Amino acid sequence: MIETTIGSLKLKNPFILASGVLGVNASVMTRVANAGCGGITTKSIGPIPKAGYPNPTVVELGNGNLINAMGLPNPGCEEFVTEIIETKKRTNAPIIASIFGKDTEEFILVAKTLLKGNPDAFELNVSCPHGGKYGSIIGQDKELVEEITREVKKIVKVPVYVKISPNLSDLRVPAEAAVSGGADGIVVINTLRAMAIDINYRKPILANKFGGLSGPAVKPVALKCVYDMYSSFGDKVPIIGVGGISNWEDVVEFILAGASAVQVGTAISYCKDPVNISIFNELADGLKNYLKSEGFSKTTDIVGLAHKD
Ligand SMILES: Cc1cc2nc3c(=O)[nH]c(=O)nc-3n(C[C@H](O)[C@H](O)[C@H](O)COP(=O)(O)O)c2cc1C
Repeated sequence: MIETTIGSLKLKNPFILASGVLGVNASVMTRVANAGCGGITTKSIGPIPKAGYPNPTVVELGNGNLINAMGLPNPGCEEFVTEIIETKKRTNAPIIASIFGKDTEEFILVAKTLLKGNPDAFELNVSCPHGGKYGSIIGQDKELVEEITREVKKIVKVPVYVKISPNLSDLRVPAEAAVSGGADGIVVINTLRAMAIDINYRKPILANKFGGLSGPAVKPVALKCVYDMYSSFGDKVPIIGVGGISNWEDVVEFILAGASAVQVGTAISYCKDPVNISIFNELADGLKNYLKSEGFSKTTDIVGLAHKD
């Protein structure tokens, strides 16, 4: 009853691990899959190994919110293929490979390399707020977003989703470019540009000075972005909602706003000790109970309902 579909990808439930949070190697991804999620997004993977920024890379703000500037640390696509292969041997959970590059050629290289692991979908990260030449700098260029999406679509047979930045005056511009390039769905949103200053040292706390805000504080912003995307695309383009989800009521809000699936990040592994992977079962129970008590038979019955008069 809570199954969902994004493009041609079927998920047993609409709860996906967000990129950058635990999706770093086969043993952790398997653990998350066994905890009941509908799908797993990997850490964003680039063409070559990348160390990321020096510490501090994370500032906890309290109430489950944080600012991170990891700098896209990853082992590089050649090395990461084995993690996808290994995860797929151990679990049936769909794997969404999140990828980044500085231009179309790098996106193609990473996608081609990771294809050897047979991921079930790709997510194009054109929205990291602290990625320097990677990330949101690309997401601001609609021609480039369209070209990257089109070229990756040419070489992969699985669905391709594009993750959009909230740090723009009009998110519809990159979203429409992604759709023109053939995207099978859009992922809304990446983190919000943010910073924190140490008043004793009188300096920014993060080594990168600024980073991206995540956690419950971004939920109303993410929800509005999902609502706007659904206003633009309706049922034509599946939306994966992400940003601050920490309980089943949040999930229902995102689905009513227009999301066909949601991702959960900060609520799982930051500001939590130990990591909160049991959240997937709690969300599933909450969503099932809500659908039943409100007289709906499946998740898809309520997608975008908040738009109806
Ligand atoms: C520590 C950390 C690392 C992240 N790394 C990535 C990443 O590599 N690629 C990406 O697309 N998003 C990354 N994100 C953004 C999340 O996937 C998500 O879009 C954002 O955190 C909002 O969701 P949340 O509030 O549920 O965490 C990261 C977030 C956090 C907190």
